[in-house]
Amino acid sequence: MSKQIFQPNAAFAADARIKNMDEYNALQNKAIEDYEGFWGDYAKEKLDWIEPFTNVLDESEAPFVKWFDGGKLNVSAQCIDRHLDARKNKAAIIFEGDRGDKQVITYLELYHEVNKFANLLKEDFGVQKGDRVVIYMPMIPEAAYAMLACARIGAIHSIVFGGFSSEALKDRIEDAAAKVVITADGAFRKEKPYMLKPVVDAAIDASSPVEKVLVVERNNEEVTWVEGRDYSYNELIKDKSTECEAEIMESEDPLFLLYTSGSTGKPKGVQHNSAGYILWAQMTMEWVFDVKENDTYWCTADIGWITGHTYIVYGPLAMGATTVMFEGVITYPDAGRPWKMVQDHRINQFYTAPTAIRVLHKMGEDEPAKYDLSSLKVLGTVGEPIDPPAWKWYYEEVGSSQCAIVDTYWQTETGGHIVSPLPGATPIKPACATLPLPGIIAEILDPATGEKTEVDETGYMCITRPWPSQIRGVWGDKERYVKSYYGDVQKDGKAVYFTGDGARYDEDGYITITGRTDDVINVSGHRMGTAEVEAAIKKHANVAEVAVVGKPHELKGEGIFAYIVLKSDEGVADEVAEMRAINTIIKQEIGNIAVCDDMVFAPGLPKTRSGKIMRRILRAIAKGEAITQDISTLEDPSIVAKIEAMVKG
Ligand code: PRX
Repeated sequence: MSKQIFQPNAAFAADARIKNMDEYNALQNKAIEDYEGFWGDYAKEKLDWIEPFTNVLDESEAPFVKWFDGGKLNVSAQCIDRHLDARKNKAAIIFEGDRGDKQVITYLELYHEVNKFANLLKEDFGVQKGDRVVIYMPMIPEAAYAMLACARIGAIHSIVFGGFSSEALKDRIEDAAAKVVITADGAFRKEKPYMLKPVVDAAIDASSPVEKVLVVERNNEEVTWVEGRDYSYNELIKDKSTECEAEIMESEDPLFLLYTSGSTGKPKGVQHNSAGYILWAQMTMEWVFDVKENDTYWCTADIGWITGHTYIVYGPLAMGATTVMFEGVITYPDAGRPWKMVQDHRINQFYTAPTAIRVLHKMGEDEPAKYDLSSLKVLGTVGEPIDPPAWKWYYEEVGSSQCAIVDTYWQTETGGHIVSPLPGATPIKPACATLPLPGIIAEILDPATGEKTEVDETGYMCITRPWPSQIRGVWGDKERYVKSYYGDVQKDGKAVYFTGDGARYDEDGYITITGRTDDVINVSGHRMGTAEVEAAIKKHANVAEVAVVGKPHELKGEGIFAYIVLKSDEGVADEVAEMRAINTIIKQEIGNIAVCDDMVFAPGLPKTRSGKIMRRILRAIAKGEAITQDISTLEDPSIVAKIEAMVKG
């Protein structure tokens, strides 16, 4: 199936870092021919080493790999200190609050704030290199200071998205054995205060590893203070020195953990280490967004997700760019908010999720035309496949058919982009992630043979060589790391990294991601494990069995559809009330992002005789598709028609 092709804007390409496909091919060929030379050269060029590395890549214990062994550096110094000579008065962060309040933080100010924060963590809380610190924060500058302060003293941060419930927060605190939680009283959403501190209070019980809680006072609402545990950031920070020497870190010292969903009920603590992560964060910022010295770049993600880590904080700051941070809701006060912000801040690169584009399109189709968006050069999308109508609107109405759309494919585990157009080089096909970035050996393989798939044939999206910003492990569970990522596909007899996604090549070798092959649902660009949602639903006293599947959703991409078998044979008197009660449990156990869009109380689930739930059948029923597979081998084939009738009815 050929698609329309959009060539890069010629004026933009002339000035881009990678200007055409010849340059792209030359880079990728260099990586293929001399993999270690390619990465070693960039690591020397892009990073400021306290001590140089002695070895580029050590694969002797693969899939546990080491990059840039022997090298010493500090990631916060990469992001701040090294820019002070040339950029001390340049805006590092431009913050816009929910209520329109604005704050500009220069690189010198960032240096001072991060050093004060680092001194606070060290002096008042005794945080040391290797300690885990959980950050449960709204989108305010202090969240970025907290991340960089941890990096400065070698503490490992684990950010938990502010939409997660106290139970989800508790699990993550305990898994990482965090001794400190950094939070805020709350923040503002749609001009009203909302709270975070009470969620933290509920997540910490007597057996918690948490010793201290630091509270940034943002909305100044009343909160409970636990004597000897809770401290006000605003008070403690006052007398801290603006100088804090950066801890000397090894290349492979951990930088952060970020929990993400997998195919079991327990989220995985994805570990990223220092040198390789920050190198690729910076290189992809430069190549994929092509941010120039005077540009202003805005990524609308939340710092609680990997996109916020790599493309709001670490990537932009590592390259010395100006990054915008936004506390509010993009559709408030109306769906013109982001376009007003583009106009007000003269934003040059805008990066968001397809879900946001669909919502902005639906709620404000004509809004972009009301603002001056002429500063825009590159538009990005991330997190899920973008559908052609959303792509078209984004390209034509937001980008005036002048901007490249970079459909960036990657995941928490990859640390940064892996497949994406380059805005000055790659001819773009709508809704297609296009080609692997230089240095990334990404291939679609047939899991049975390990061979590359043919054109239009769906296979497994794999990365067949280690890369610097790859996941280094699942916190506390070496086996799970190997099994989750290196257990499914072998190439030439060697286990290779499998992303969990299906994909196919087109006739030009372009890659289109077709979606997850495992039991992970992509809700609004966020990964949600069906097992996690099922575990939450099972907490309801009247639930006997449950199976959760994804179903296409107009705005969210995928919605959550739950088939629930109740314990009481007679069913329930008030189904709506029961569904509400189940969603309340989901909110308590996980958070609002995991609530079910659809639920049916089924008489049973379609299972094989060995008891395996046939989710494929449930997915087809949820989509309203005809069941084409053989159901005669099911334990009770009649259950399928019964469920179908209930869903249709
Ligand atoms: O299924 C892919 C989808 O999002 C998953 C990664 O989710 P997460 O780790 O939460 O990170 C999201 C932000 C990087 C992938 O396995 N995904 C991500 N980007 C795309 C995508 N699917 C299609 N196209 C994309 N551009």
